[in-house]
Amino acid sequence: MKIKGLKCIICGKEYSPSEVKYVCSSCGGNLDVIYDYLEIKKHFSRSDLASSRMYSIWRYLPVLPLESNFTTHQKYFPKLHIGWTPIHRAKNLSKKLNFSGNIYIKDDGRNPSASYKDRASSVVAVKGQEIGAGVFTTASTGNAGCALACMCSNLQLPCVIFVPKTAPRAKIAQLLLFGAKVIAVNGTYDDAFDLSLGAASEFDWYCRSTGYNPYTREGKKTSAFEICEQLNWEVPDKVFVSVGDGNIISGVWKGFKDFYALGFIDRLPQIIAVQSDKSNAISRAWKNVSTLPVAQTGEIKIAPVKATTVADSISVDMPRDGVSAVKSIIESKGFAVEVPDEEILGAIKELAENEGVFAEPAAAAAFAGLKKSISEKKVKDTETVVCLITGNGLKDIDSAMKVAGEPILIEPEIEEVKKLNIQ
Ligand SMILES: Cc1ncc(COP(=O)(O)O)c(C=O)c1O
Ligand SMILES: [Zn+2]
Repeated sequence: MKIKGLKCIICGKEYSPSEVKYVCSSCGGNLDVIYDYLEIKKHFSRSDLASSRMYSIWRYLPVLPLESNFTTHQKYFPKLHIGWTPIHRAKNLSKKLNFSGNIYIKDDGRNPSASYKDRASSVVAVKGQEIGAGVFTTASTGNAGCALACMCSNLQLPCVIFVPKTAPRAKIAQLLLFGAKVIAVNGTYDDAFDLSLGAASEFDWYCRSTGYNPYTREGKKTSAFEICEQLNWEVPDKVFVSVGDGNIISGVWKGFKDFYALGFIDRLPQIIAVQSDKSNAISRAWKNVSTLPVAQTGEIKIAPVKATTVADSISVDMPRDGVSAVKSIIESKGFAVEVPDEEILGAIKELAENEGVFAEPAAAAAFAGLKKSISEKKVKDTETVVCLITGNGLKDIDSAMKVAGEPILIEPEIEEVKKLNIQ
């Protein structure tokens, strides 16, 4: 058995996987999947990875919380390319920032539904089928829902998605076209979240909502595995992650810890949380405990904020995996950085202009955080950093157009082109 059990992140209570579906029955805390690394090591090594030709998150099945595999239950797996997204050295941006270390951009906008969330939704989709789920549901700022709807379309499973009615139109279009039942809630993401939990319990739907479902973090850890392999096992010094609920960041940290426990890597990176200063609950909670010894991080208290950022995907009043996120920052000796919306929008332009990578606001926030940290000398000139780009820019054109400028309008005459004097 590769899984030892599920452990509450708040009170530490342990459960067997069959005993619990979502959260801790004692305190309501989110659960973390605990693996038996000695057992996993017997059948999974770096050389297995070197010879694997499965270039997707499924190359990491031995460290995923699934019993199915491609031999036993092929039909449970979406026939889509999930994960193993490209990573490239951002030389142009490094030069522009006068930074002599290495910046790597990992573009998770290149997933099937164009965001990082495909990693989590695909794992939950397989898990749900393993436990005989009928209807799937989730609350979402947009991307998690798009990802679940995309997987459910491919697997021909029914799903119901709750989004705030303000979600960008492209995300709503994706949801509808993937065939989900889309419920636009006249309220915030937080309202949609509570409603998804209530509906799941009322109608016995399988709920993917972030953090509440213990398997979302497991899917999200896979980018850390890819980074280790793609950088030829040279662990980066820092990984910049944009943070809303705090589930991606805790997944990324878990992934590095998994590979460390398996002996695949010999050191761990610092994980840097980037938040909008208009949606900063996790950054605030981290600041309150950042001076405490690690042993006292049981004290982590997350207070809700009134989120108003342009970066809709990280606009969260009450983060749903906040404690786990703050723990990830502390354990990894990282830090949190807050950036204003203007810098988030500016980062969309800089990434696009210099690296050919088109990011949605929440994704560009990670780069805005990196830029700020470099300018504040929180990143050394000798370091290697990875910036996770978690969603594609086409998902929110209205925000992109705020910094894109306008095309030149002319009559269809060559003389008009000449007049422009383009060099
Ligand atoms: C593009 C993008 N970036 C970052 C995040 C933040 O992830 P988390 O809510 O797990 O912190 C999200 C979540 O919706 C997202 O869609
Ligand atoms: Zn508990």
